[in-house]
Amino acid sequence: MRIFEEMESEVRGYVRAFPTVFDVAKGAFLYDEQGMRYIDFFAGAGTLNYGHNNPLISNALIEYLQHDGIVHGLDKATVAKKQFLQKFRDTILAPRNLEYKVQFTGPTGTNAVETALKLARMVKRRSNVIAFTNGYHGLTMGALAVTGNDFYRDESYGARNNADSVPFDGYFGPDVNTIDYLRKFLEDSSSGIDLPAAIIVETVQGEGGINVASSEWLQQLEALCREFDIMLIIDDIQMGNGRTGTFFSFEESGIKPDLVTVSKSIGGGLPMALLLMRPELDQWKPGEHTGTFRGNNLAFVAAAQALTYWENDDFADSIRYKGVIMEEELGKIVAKYADRLDIELRGRGMVWGLDFKRTGFPGEVARAAFHNQLVIELAGADDNVVKFLPALIIDEETLREGLAIIDRVIGEILLQKESVMRGDTAA
Ligand SMILES: Cc1ncc(COP(=O)(O)O)c(C=O)c1O
Repeated sequence: MRIFEEMESEVRGYVRAFPTVFDVAKGAFLYDEQGMRYIDFFAGAGTLNYGHNNPLISNALIEYLQHDGIVHGLDKATVAKKQFLQKFRDTILAPRNLEYKVQFTGPTGTNAVETALKLARMVKRRSNVIAFTNGYHGLTMGALAVTGNDFYRDESYGARNNADSVPFDGYFGPDVNTIDYLRKFLEDSSSGIDLPAAIIVETVQGEGGINVASSEWLQQLEALCREFDIMLIIDDIQMGNGRTGTFFSFEESGIKPDLVTVSKSIGGGLPMALLLMRPELDQWKPGEHTGTFRGNNLAFVAAAQALTYWENDDFADSIRYKGVIMEEELGKIVAKYADRLDIELRGRGMVWGLDFKRTGFPGEVARAAFHNQLVIELAGADDNVVKFLPALIIDEETLREGLAIIDRVIGEILLQKESVMRGDTAA
């Protein structure tokens, strides 16, 4: 590990959480250079929904490279892009009755968010944007301005411009409807909140701690946007691509966002980001918003293969099936330790979080899990949530094995703490 400490910036993060040198990966497993196998419950922060080195994807990539297919093409027309667009239209948009134009932005999520905010402001001719408490939308300037957690925002780096943060669903507990709160602010010309061009929201806040917006809340938010002529942006970067059980995470609520940001797993593991926009909002002039790496052709090839999973209902059914296993098994863990720990379980589909309501303990769980060959991450404002994000293609046995590791390590940590306490008392 010395080279990383010597050469790599202090900013490095996951290398500290998972201190080994990974070498090979397949499906839901990672292997380090010693050949140690780890179950991956992190899935590249939601980028590997189709698993590591999915053969459907890697074989297509090898074949494409071997026939010297275009790799870099800016936004020129290419066969790879044509095939992706056709498949995205026929497999995803048309069956869902969604009509969107597709913009290829720079290849990371934050690029898509920047593009969405820019377009919304340009079309509405208003600068303000509303975002939600605990929202996470990326770390470039515009996206950072609508990201909640102050760990990422050093105000000396640049004051946040033209963004307001309002309470997400459930922020004040189940009895306060935060849409009513937002409505009051929008209606009151003296509230200090300017009428925004757009409201940006995640249906399930991933980095923010697996906070789930209800369908009713999303429907009310959409209605509010329509009433006040505000664009609704769904940031589906982490929760899209099947994570919640449907391709788009907003499908269950029946809402039709104006703009949708899509990234992470859309590229089947390769960098790719899209902005979907209602056709009448496509008011860009040619070349007005560009980027050297928009539309990477290898990612188009990978993405077109990944979409094969959506050609029938089998994949969605399997996500729902494994989602129920996750909910049940994690529910058992909550019940088992209820007299010793205050844990709340939240989630949908195949994204779940155990909120320990405090900092420290979740970190111990994740560290102990790593020592038991399970890679799992934390989320929430104070790293108070252990976040379960396995590849959607994980088999049931491995899924259960990973969940059992969490159960076991929580039990072991508690035993250790209790024996220390008993030792203290005896002394
Ligand atoms: C909802 C959401 N939006 C935007 C981003 C930013 O994506 P990227 O890290 O690729 O810039 C993330 C990343 O975790 C995210 O979860």
